[in-house]
Amino acid sequence: MLPSKDEVIKGYSRYISPASHVTYAPIVPYRAENALVWDVEGREYIDFLSDAAVQNVGHNNPRVVEAVKKTAERLLHYTFIYGFPVEPYLLAKKLVEIAPIEDSKVAFGLSGSDANDGAIKFARAYTGRRSVIGYLRSYYGSTYGAMSVTGLDFEVRSKVGQLSDVHFIPYPNCYRCPFGKQPGKCKMECLEYLKEKFEGEVHAEGVAALMAEPVQGDAGMVVPPMSYFKKLKRILDDHGILLAVDEVQSGLGRTGRWFAIEHFNVIPEIITLAKPLGGGLPISAIIGREEIMDSLPPLGHAFTLSGNPVASAAALAVIEEIEERNLLERAELLGKIAKSRLERMKKHHELVGDVRGLGLMLGVDLVKDKETKERAYEEAKKVVWRAYELGLIVAFLQGNVLRIQPPLTIEEELLREGLERLEEAIEDVENGSVPDEVVEKVEGW
Ligand SMILES: Cc1ncc(COP(=O)(O)O)c(C=O)c1O
Repeated sequence: MLPSKDEVIKGYSRYISPASHVTYAPIVPYRAENALVWDVEGREYIDFLSDAAVQNVGHNNPRVVEAVKKTAERLLHYTFIYGFPVEPYLLAKKLVEIAPIEDSKVAFGLSGSDANDGAIKFARAYTGRRSVIGYLRSYYGSTYGAMSVTGLDFEVRSKVGQLSDVHFIPYPNCYRCPFGKQPGKCKMECLEYLKEKFEGEVHAEGVAALMAEPVQGDAGMVVPPMSYFKKLKRILDDHGILLAVDEVQSGLGRTGRWFAIEHFNVIPEIITLAKPLGGGLPISAIIGREEIMDSLPPLGHAFTLSGNPVASAAALAVIEEIEERNLLERAELLGKIAKSRLERMKKHHELVGDVRGLGLMLGVDLVKDKETKERAYEEAKKVVWRAYELGLIVAFLQGNVLRIQPPLTIEEELLREGLERLEEAIEDVENGSVPDEVVEKVEGW
């Protein structure tokens, strides 16, 4: 017999470290199919979160489930470190084929965090340099290296320490410009800032890599101006600094391209992937130029369970699904539908300050006042709670930006239905019918 919803939720606080969990709405999932999730009580939800941007090809995608079953029946695991299982080889070959980097090679891991740790290691080993530049408000993960370049969570770093030689710069955020400028009326002070950093604080020729999310996910789906990465890359090239892009959240079709960096016509030296890669199974990949990926000695980035045949077969099925169902185009098309519906909400609701994103990686910035852009923290919690009551799973980032990332396979009808529920939730918060007590129930981050 399954434990009840209440028992499970209470059990989490009793048995699971709070360091690995944060509560939005109390979903206790039991079964899921494409964009729908059913909880242990049989209640149905539309998943606008894609399980934290994991389910690009939908929950329990039949092609992925079949690949998992077939592979699991004959080979659950044979370590890739000592042997030569077939699936990780096929997957590496496929990743090299779809990646924009020429003559690339792949290293595997288990999470986005370890992939970003690896990117730092490869960049340092290849360049022989130590410094790394990260962005304020970025999220690269929870292992030591990834956490050290993350521009959030300094409370954790202050408790546990961090890698040295890490520097931070502001991300180009045109809605909340860190330099107080207006889009189109600025001199790209965000890039000037980097140049000045090289003049006064950081020895540019000592920098191994700059780590960037092409769309800053956990910062609230921030999309840089289209010219940003080209200009940035020129500066980096002048100093021999590698561009490592974190596509853990934005990759594999999420933005309507295999990799979000492709929107900016820039080719990075290193790409990291995880979340949607295994369709729900743990697997990550670092794709980089051959000479960079050859720069660490054997076991310089190796995990006993990485390159797992079942997870690799799942990843191959995810990629096949994206190709065969044209999910890149679909993400773009559905993204347009969702964005225009959200833009309409912005016109009609005081709470909606900004709508942004690429493809199906969308953010809705909730504000107390459209002029001051003061973040609407409590209102965001109420919207998430009310949406949950209405059968919609949605979360917020930075305390106030709604995260809209449904599966790329979501049925158009269901997408529209989810957006209706979202607007109803926003309306209910605006008209005061969501009680203040719910703010205590939603933790979020
Ligand atoms: C952009 C980005 N990079 C890295 C990570 C870390 O990935 P993981 O949680 O798989 O370690 C995340 C997770 O949210 C992410 O959004």
